[in-house]
Amino acid sequence: MSHDHLLDVKDLTIQYTIEGNLASVVDQVSFYIDPGEIIALVGESGCGKTQIALSQAGLLPKAAHISQSSINGIQTAMIFQDPLNALNPVLKVGTQILEGIKNKVKRNKGEVVRLLNAVGIDEPEKRYYQYPHEFSGGMRQRVLIAIALARDPDLLIADEPTTALDVTIQAQIIDLLKEFNENQGVSILFISHDLSLVKSFAQRTMVMYAGRIVESAPTDVLFSTPQHPYTKALIQLSKMKKNNKGEFSSIPGVVPLPLHYPSGCRFHPRCPSAIQECAEKEPDIILKGDHSWACPIT
Ligand SMILES: Nc1ncnc2c1ncn2[C@@H]1O[C@H](COP(=O)(O)OP(=O)(O)OP(=O)(O)O)[C@@H](O)[C@H]1O
Ligand SMILES: [Mg+2]
Repeated sequence: MSHDHLLDVKDLTIQYTIEGNLASVVDQVSFYIDPGEIIALVGESGCGKTQIALSQAGLLPKAAHISQSSINGIQTAMIFQDPLNALNPVLKVGTQILEGIKNKVKRNKGEVVRLLNAVGIDEPEKRYYQYPHEFSGGMRQRVLIAIALARDPDLLIADEPTTALDVTIQAQIIDLLKEFNENQGVSILFISHDLSLVKSFAQRTMVMYAGRIVESAPTDVLFSTPQHPYTKALIQLSKMKKNNKGEFSSIPGVVPLPLHYPSGCRFHPRCPSAIQECAEKEPDIILKGDHSWACPIT
């Protein structure tokens, strides 16, 4: 691991046996995260974002084959999209946070109350003894953040942490994450479909398509001068609300399944700029400063 980066992932591949064949749902992905950095990972459904997140949190299912040339020795914690299912319904909230406290000396009720306070839960002394069903969706996500912070993480992985919440609550949770990033220097890997949120929250953004990172740049650079046609399509899409039939628009075509990734550039069948070469040859990575992308056309 490089001394400059908090996390330095090189050639991460995650495979499953699907219909008797080994398929790479994440394919030779490399990226880094710096101390104190908020980095976003975006891309359509099925691209492999959650698989990357789970791999870095050490939470991949046993069926996964993972290969990665550098080992992540940092403390990670993960929060999920669905705050109800991530909590144990039959255990008191206080107990669940208590069990998560990494430092044994601090494993006491006082520390749990401190954490509940820190994530903005009122009446923590009373809340300690309640069960998850007694908490609203937003409050449950705060509990999950408290459990994550109890691990004293270097890196917090937030996989669509606000998708299931209403807009006001979303903003509160984002503010809370910002606060921990600023006050405690926790790095955040933020996975989201909401590009406007990503734009205001993350310092750097990686775009993923069909198991690969196709573009990566400081967020302002990515949004002002996107280079990969897939990134351009995603940004275009995020600017359009609904079409005249009232349907949400999408990029024509679908993300291919891992067993059926196309040759060459995996986006070429959907790409408006594709040329013959795109179907035949894997695109080289073009690097300009801290902006990189995998497309020869732009
Ligand atoms: N246990 C598994 N066995 C086989 N394939 C799997 C398994 N888990 C995930 N996959 C496949 O891995 C691919 C990537 O899935 P992943 O959940 O990482 O996508 P995602 O980018 O997080 O999508 P979303 O935006 O919908 O959350 C998908 O094709 C999915 O079907
Ligand atoms: Mg996901």
